[in-house]
Amino acid sequence: MILTQIDIRGLRNLREASLSPAPGFNLITGANGAGKSSVLEAIHCLSVGHSFRTRKVRELITRGEDEFTLACQMLDVASEQTHRSGLRRHRDGTTELRLDYEEIRSIAPITQILPVKALTPDSHALIQDGPSGRRSFIDWGTFHVEQGFFDAWKVYRRALSQRNQSLKDNAPDSEVNSWDEQLVSAGTQLDAFRRNYTVSLQSTLTELLRSMETVFHVELSYRSGWSDGIDMAEALAKSFQNCRRFRTTTVGPHRAELQISTDGVLARQILSRGQQKLLVYAMHLAQLILLHTITNKPAIVLCDDLPSELDREQSGKILGQIAQLNSQVFLTSTEPQSLENTPIEMFSIAGGELRKGV
Ligand SMILES: Nc1ncnc2c1ncn2[C@@H]1O[C@H](COP(=O)(O)OP(=O)(O)O)[C@@H](O)[C@H]1O
Ligand SMILES: [Mg+2]
Repeated sequence: MILTQIDIRGLRNLREASLSPAPGFNLITGANGAGKSSVLEAIHCLSVGHSFRTRKVRELITRGEDEFTLACQMLDVASEQTHRSGLRRHRDGTTELRLDYEEIRSIAPITQILPVKALTPDSHALIQDGPSGRRSFIDWGTFHVEQGFFDAWKVYRRALSQRNQSLKDNAPDSEVNSWDEQLVSAGTQLDAFRRNYTVSLQSTLTELLRSMETVFHVELSYRSGWSDGIDMAEALAKSFQNCRRFRTTTVGPHRAELQISTDGVLARQILSRGQQKLLVYAMHLAQLILLHTITNKPAIVLCDDLPSELDREQSGKILGQIAQLNSQVFLTSTEPQSLENTPIEMFSIAGGELRKGV
């Protein structure tokens, strides 16, 4: 899917901005604080409903306004079908969603047809920070390639939240355990989906790192969120006293971890900051390659301020790989950029005013 028209109203300093992007590379240039990242945040919101910088809608709404509104036109290049979608989010927390003129309740059908991958500054946080970012990373890929993933995830979230509420309320054992069957069934499915996905991602990543001639090898290892060698049902039964003590469910896919190591040592302990950044970009790229290979769906790529993250040679390698995916790409930079053999559509922004050209 590619975006052919984007309309933004009331998001950060973008009071009213529109663009008709090219199907390939698009570059948005402007001074610091001009609104470049905000345009990328808007595109990210169109796909998943929230920004890559925050999940708090109040931060995104232009100060003094009550809501932001986004609309887009998309083209499925393979089928030549056009779609339209729209999103309005209010300060009071309500959200309105439309897909092809019909109101919808969940954004999942839009996310499904409009995969967006954000490559952002502070990329090394994926390696340095806690496991939740790495779970989201795995889930991004798994959601887009495993048909049953989203349904299992919904059932799991609901059963987990109900079970945790029962634990918080100190409810009788029978009430807490009444959620176990659903939790184990959906949790076991999620575990298998993520595990399979990690295996595929590992081989794509290994090949990619080889072709990029990086000096390090990387092993990805998925840990379920319970002890090795037993299934989730047994782990949940064994954890009951702990769940009571901490008043929350202490085992399951919500406690899973993606271990990233190189030669048997955790990447965060052994790789330099620069190597970590390059590795994170390669990991995202491997997801894009895998998505393209499995589903033939190119995701839209948002690349915020790449020159601040990687040196010229590294960013050249990354952009060269992205160019091979035939994806629609949105880059931001304070300076105009050029790419070998790849035309770039230019946009410039100043004080939230977006226009075509430099
Ligand atoms: N809720 C908001 N309302 C109005 N302006 C905002 C809001 N949030 C951020 N801004 C402003 O929007 C501008 C654009 O930020 P950003 O997109 O990060 O700029 P850039 O990426 O070009 O450096 C900044 O000047 C920031 O102060
Ligand atoms: Mg920025």
